[in-house]
Amino acid sequence: MASSREQRWSLKGMTALVTGGTRGIGYSIVEELAGFGATIHTCSRNQKEIDERLEEWKGKGYNVSGSVCDLLVKEQREDLMKIVSSIFDGKLNILINNAGITLIKDASEHTTEDYTFIMGMNFQSPFHLSQLSHPLLKASGDASVVFISSVSGVTALPSMSVYAASKGAINQLTKNLACEWAKDNIRTNTVAPWGVNTTILNNVRSLQSLRNTLTISFLKFQTLTLAFSHFSNYI
Ligand SMILES: NC(=O)c1ccc[n+]([C@@H]2O[C@H](COP(=O)([O-])OP(=O)(O)OC[C@H]3O[C@@H](n4cnc5c(N)ncnc54)[C@H](OP(=O)(O)O)[C@@H]3O)[C@@H](O)[C@H]2O)c1
Repeated sequence: MASSREQRWSLKGMTALVTGGTRGIGYSIVEELAGFGATIHTCSRNQKEIDERLEEWKGKGYNVSGSVCDLLVKEQREDLMKIVSSIFDGKLNILINNAGITLIKDASEHTTEDYTFIMGMNFQSPFHLSQLSHPLLKASGDASVVFISSVSGVTALPSMSVYAASKGAINQLTKNLACEWAKDNIRTNTVAPWGVNTTILNNVRSLQSLRNTLTISFLKFQTLTLAFSHFSNYI
């Protein structure tokens, strides 16, 4: 018989979409949610990496599917949601808007392309995905949206102006969606991590010395707590 802890901390019967689940923070979130019994769909741009992860998760007894999607492309986001709707029968309990990119550069050096890329990936894409998910989240009757923003979205860090602005925009969006969608039984929250040792830091030389001191466990705890939580705490 399941213990009261297992009953209380269970996501059995819940469905989740975790963007960018093949590596880093998204990978850990998939593992954590799947470990609590959720059925998950994830996406990234790399079919080979998706296949490897799915095989690994199958071996652990996790119920995870995955498909290729470049989240920067509107049509691919729409196709992703059609897949999710089809495999989850039009209902989604948890949307984790995790996938994102970073750019460390002085403000005066940012190009128009840098701006479009960062805002497209870190703000436009999760916003549009949330919009597309709304009917499915509402249909589930008990839903939670969790964005992964960043500490840089609430405090000024060097050479992160546009990245920080994209994450600050997510923080504010979180508050607006939490108010707008509460009536549909959809909670909306954000986890704002400090540095986490993942592949996103591969190209950020100034952060290399920090890498070994970084940990993912507290972050996993935060994200999971928000996915379970019956409140909107925002950030
Ligand atoms: N790591 C940190 O220090 C840190 C700190 C604060 C906030 N964050 C935030 O946490 C989130 C996750 O970061 P992370 O460090 O785990 O990054 P990561 O290790 O680089 O992993 C990113 C994941 O997103 C996928 N992805 C990237 N671009 C994509 C696209 N255009 N379409 C679909 N999937 C895409 C990647 O797969 P493919 O590349 O194969 O597509 C990968 O699965 C991001 O929003 C980031 O801004 C990270």
